[in-house]
Amino acid sequence: MIDLTSPSFIADPYPTLAELRKEGKPVWHEPTGMFLAAGYKDANQVLRNRDLGRIFTPKEPSDQWEAFNWLHSDSILDSEPPKHTRLRSLVMKAFNPKMIEALRPEIERITDELLANAEQVLSEAGQFDLIADFAEPLPVKVIAHLLGFPDKDEHLLRPWSQAIVKMYEVSPSEADKDAAKLAGEEFASYVHELMLERKQNPGTDLISDLAAVEEAGEKLNTHELIATCVLLLNAGHEASVNGFGNGMVATLQNPEQLAKLKADPFGIAETAVDEFIRFDAPLHLFERTATTDTEVGGVTIGQGQKIASLLGSANRDSAIFENPDQLDLTRSPNPHIGFGAGIHFCIGAPLARLEMAISLPALMSKFPNLSLAKDPVRRPSFVLRGYEQVLVNAGQ
Ligand code: HEM
Repeated sequence: MIDLTSPSFIADPYPTLAELRKEGKPVWHEPTGMFLAAGYKDANQVLRNRDLGRIFTPKEPSDQWEAFNWLHSDSILDSEPPKHTRLRSLVMKAFNPKMIEALRPEIERITDELLANAEQVLSEAGQFDLIADFAEPLPVKVIAHLLGFPDKDEHLLRPWSQAIVKMYEVSPSEADKDAAKLAGEEFASYVHELMLERKQNPGTDLISDLAAVEEAGEKLNTHELIATCVLLLNAGHEASVNGFGNGMVATLQNPEQLAKLKADPFGIAETAVDEFIRFDAPLHLFERTATTDTEVGGVTIGQGQKIASLLGSANRDSAIFENPDQLDLTRSPNPHIGFGAGIHFCIGAPLARLEMAISLPALMSKFPNLSLAKDPVRRPSFVLRGYEQVLVNAGQ
């Protein structure tokens, strides 16, 4: 039975996931109490099958977990139609390709600012942290800008988000649970205050727009509004930080692909970004619950039972991808499911792609001889896979 929490699995889950795919069907996993769908066909079906729902199980005791519970049960990600359709359609207006493209100058400005800062750190310390100095602040600043989250409080976003998402890991500790509960309360009450303020003094930001929808009546209640803002603020940076970090480390460890990227950073940025997400997925596991007896890959998932779609494993399936264990920054087509599939397909995919397609070539142009200064440090988690620290220098 695979241990999804063991340090050796977390260091490199791919050989074990390859073994799991050899089973050719979803496998029951006793420690987590769910089936694991590791092959592309099954994992994709889990995300698309409408009899497998995203159903949030409230945390007990519910009075202590109140804010955490409704932040999930009233969010887009953890609801199903018709509520999901209503909530999703409200934010899709802000995430359409035209609106996202309009963010380009702001993303370029933030990228330039961060690269200038990284250059400064480099000149003082001889190295900088690709995560803390670049990959992390970039999406945090972009999503904060889009929602109108105050600059002075941006530093609160990452700790709140990280505390909350620890609950998505396979077995969170008691300390993690306490931290998640507290972060949920603080984040919800902060956004509530902000929303009340925006109702009084509307701006041109997404929080003001959503607050106006709530004011107008039926479409959005207060909890839904807060849950939507918190979800966007969290989802808007968490996976982007890790996707960029994972992809950059994989490239820096692969001389052939690094040479390709150096030779034409702007030309291959778009395919490189999707290969970053495919090769070492920042999000590995999403659960669904069967609302009726449902068959996946020849296995019956009984009503009420859970099944997980293993995205990172699916993206290494040789039935779909040629040389799946090789990083290929010009891979095309690249039908990975790192952004999900079906009705919960990532709303922020165009934004995440644009951010990376701008920041990756800008980084490589500024520091063409970028190299790892030390072994990168992994975060001890499987579901949200990423690095804690990636120290780099500018090479010769
Ligand atoms: C590399 C970056 C990203 C990756 C890999 C990623 C991946 C995903 C995946 C796999 C899902 C589906 C979860 C499921 O089916 O259960 C999802 C949903 C979602 N993502 Fe992303 N995401 C990224 C960036 C973003 C950004 C920048 C935003 C911006 C707001 C965002 C907002 C959302 C939202 C709101 C949902 C819920 C959609 C729904 O339930 O209908 N994501 N994301």
